[in-house]
Amino acid sequence: MVKIEQVVAREVLDSRGFPTVEVELLSGSLKASAIVPSGASTGEGEALELRDGDPKRFAGKGVLKAVQNVEREIAPAIVGKEFLRQSVFDDLLRNLDGTPNKSKLGANAILPVSMAFSRLQAMVNAKQGFSPLALSENLSSAFGSQGLTLPVPLMNVFNGGKHADNGIAIQEFMIIPTGFNKFSDALRAGVEVFHALKKILSKKGLTTAVGDEGGFAPRISAEEEAGPGSHEKVLTLLLDAIETAGYRAGEDVFLALDCASSEFSKKTASGISYQFEGAGRSSSEMVQIYEKWISQYPILSIEDGLAEHDWDGWKLLTQKLGKQVQLVGDDLFVTNPEFLKKGIEKGVANSILVKLNQIGTVTETLEAMKMAHQAGYTTVISHRSGESEDCFIADLAVATDAGQIKTGSASRSDRLAKYNQLLRLEQALGSRAKFKGKGSFQSK
Ligand code: PGA
Ligand code: ZN
Repeated sequence: MVKIEQVVAREVLDSRGFPTVEVELLSGSLKASAIVPSGASTGEGEALELRDGDPKRFAGKGVLKAVQNVEREIAPAIVGKEFLRQSVFDDLLRNLDGTPNKSKLGANAILPVSMAFSRLQAMVNAKQGFSPLALSENLSSAFGSQGLTLPVPLMNVFNGGKHADNGIAIQEFMIIPTGFNKFSDALRAGVEVFHALKKILSKKGLTTAVGDEGGFAPRISAEEEAGPGSHEKVLTLLLDAIETAGYRAGEDVFLALDCASSEFSKKTASGISYQFEGAGRSSSEMVQIYEKWISQYPILSIEDGLAEHDWDGWKLLTQKLGKQVQLVGDDLFVTNPEFLKKGIEKGVANSILVKLNQIGTVTETLEAMKMAHQAGYTTVISHRSGESEDCFIADLAVATDAGQIKTGSASRSDRLAKYNQLLRLEQALGSRAKFKGKGSFQSK
């Protein structure tokens, strides 16, 4: 039983310098806190992020209303009460809000309370005082997973799309170090590739300033919108960096893309059109481009290859490439069990991106993951482009045997905080630490 005695909420700042919500829950001498992240290329179906809209503060991005909702709506409903399970606690939060997309209180008010409850419960349940494993063990029992597994990192070393201003349509170019026996070795390889890439870019006279998720974001072509062949140039740079760091591309280290293609798509009279490398392309033309890339580059995973409303295109994409490559739905599924159910029924995608703040409670996040695993879909736990020092997602990934985590490149402390937490968890698990490498990419 967890008895909540006090709730504290405040406005803090995320990694982009935008306001976000931090919540603390207190019980006796225990205090648990959590900070919510925030996206930039958000899916339309995401739970609502409540912003004040007051132009005098943070250009309208303040979150004082969400803070107030925690203090005035949520706190009176939970203080003094005892809760046995996360699901019971989260049900209360959902009922307090009462809307399908958390638009009354705001997902940024509800989620930090839900996450802080997980931590508080973990502290209460921790058998021998403090343990770095307390949260993952607690989440693991809420999820009902078999064991604690370290995820393969999908490291976003080259940023484009909405996370940069270099005219590259695709948002994330990731490296996946799979050919290693343990997480820390895989992470080291990824970090070494990142440093090799920096040297390669410097030698070519390209800027090595980083984008929102800590990856490099140089302008590789002079035009406003990077033209034909520009994306393949980036893929080639990544292969060079892998080899330069002393690893074998396609054996030790693979590639992944998050196209975030809703951002470069638009509805036209004849269907959905993608503005890509200087021309408008149909869904099937985009599928052909991906098909060609998969045959030429060691790409293991493509996220949001087509737009969130392009369900017919997604069906074609899955039919053509679903056996060869992981197809991850992010904007498409928005961590929502309802959208995922539709995807499973229609045979769309074979993997789901998992972002707590897209759905707004820990329990609903776990529900979506359970549904995915049961249907043989893989799961990729993910940060947002606006992050903080909170590393809940590292514990979540280990707890749920998710297999994969996207938490940025090897720079910016908001990204490295998660990797460092994973290193702590690996050490605490000792010989119990599992790491599946490429095995995390096969449908279960
Ligand atoms: P976002 O991007 O956090 O800006 O939505 C991350 C992603 O699309 O995976
Ligand atoms: Zn995405």
